[in-house]
Amino acid sequence: MRISVIGGGYVGLVSSICFAELGHLVSLVEIDPEKVESINLGKPLIYEKGLKQLLSIHAGRNLHARQNYDAIPASDLSFICVGTPQGDDGYADLSMIRSACRSLGQSLKDNDDYHVVVVKSTVPPGTTEDLVMPSILEYSGREPGEIGFAINPEFLREGLAVQDFMNPDRIVIGSNEKRPGDLVESVYHGLAAPIIRTGLKSAEMIKYASNAFLATKISFSNEIGNVCKRLGIDVYEVMKGVGLDHRINPYFLNAGIGFGGSCFPKDVSALIHLADRVGVTPVLLRSVMDVNEQQPLKIVEILLKSVKDIKGKRVAVLGLAFKNDTDDVRESRAIPVIKELVGRGALVAAYDPKANASMREILPEIEYCKSASQALTDADACLVLTEWPEFGDLNKEFELMRSRVIIDGRRVLSCRDAEGICW
Ligand SMILES: NC(=O)c1ccc[n+]([C@@H]2O[C@H](COP(=O)([O-])OP(=O)(O)OC[C@H]3O[C@@H](n4cnc5c(N)ncnc54)[C@H](O)[C@@H]3O)[C@@H](O)[C@H]2O)c1
Repeated sequence: MRISVIGGGYVGLVSSICFAELGHLVSLVEIDPEKVESINLGKPLIYEKGLKQLLSIHAGRNLHARQNYDAIPASDLSFICVGTPQGDDGYADLSMIRSACRSLGQSLKDNDDYHVVVVKSTVPPGTTEDLVMPSILEYSGREPGEIGFAINPEFLREGLAVQDFMNPDRIVIGSNEKRPGDLVESVYHGLAAPIIRTGLKSAEMIKYASNAFLATKISFSNEIGNVCKRLGIDVYEVMKGVGLDHRINPYFLNAGIGFGGSCFPKDVSALIHLADRVGVTPVLLRSVMDVNEQQPLKIVEILLKSVKDIKGKRVAVLGLAFKNDTDDVRESRAIPVIKELVGRGALVAAYDPKANASMREILPEIEYCKSASQALTDADACLVLTEWPEFGDLNKEFELMRSRVIIDGRRVLSCRDAEGICW
């Protein structure tokens, strides 16, 4: 099939490459010229396992990136993958969706072929019906029925995005009519996953409910972990025993410094605002966010028990990305931790295998190191904030520290004398 993808960020780029891998002809529309150039050269600007290899196979063959919308009319479907960040009021900022719909609608103006517009971005329930459909119909001047509408939320995990896209647990397709839903379903032909067909709003809500539930599991584990820490109990032993119950499952029960990333914090926040708007008090969701706000600072509290005055002390921070296997630092829990350390006058020496450059854009004032050893040299304390497997191999590197205060925020270290944030 001929597919257009609007937005070449994490979701748009991964989707484009995987659609190409599934045999489709893909045209990627991205407003950032640097991203367009890098994609066409087969050199992605983001790090994601397996992405570069697949891009080098498909770039310039069945995947082309452009800054304009010229290829849209010749496509059968367009997938909207632009960002929906958190707005100032906490609700989803839909301005990029609006602008993409305007351009997409205009590009479909002088065209008679049937076309399906698919929203892959995470949008609050009602967005496709109340914003996307009227906007596309207005700017294209076409009649309802000439353009089909669908929502196909994406559930990939950053770091494992290609693997998740090609091996999804389920494919959710919401549509206003049968025909657009059938077309979206045919795009995924060959993937062995259950397909859930729903109406537009249900598909939009499935994405929010899924992310909110996973975030709830993490905050729940963290709260249990905080209690366990006071009682001298290992929360990882506890959660192993809890997670083997098939009604619960072992995933997302790892206690630590909390969740970050471009999805959970903003999606839970949007759901809280949506609940408020419709007159429901989101007691549970607010608590999930409260725990997540407080959790990263607990590692600083533990540090202050060992190093009372951290002013002028060198603190090695290992891990900046919001999780391992990515260079994404959006809402990373390392940000509030580092800000707290800097606010108390500590000298932060940070190292991340992939995310030094992206964190430097947010926090330019700290020292960035080329290796864990460099960060640990002469350090008065060490905080581990991302679960990079390579940190698990650190051992003799800790001997480079001036004083051996090591606190693990992710249960990744193997050395015995590290203190856990909630174990
Ligand atoms: N990142 C994830 O892990 C993930 C997972 C599932 C769902 N989502 C959702 O997918 C959506 C995209 O997320 P992302 O992380 O890929 O965002 P992103 O910010 O990495 O990428 C969005 C891209 O869209 C481009 N863009 C913006 N307006 C445009 C326009 N009018 N025309 C063409 N390109 C335009 C931007 O330049 C940017 O490159 C969001 O709604 C997000 O919530 C993200």
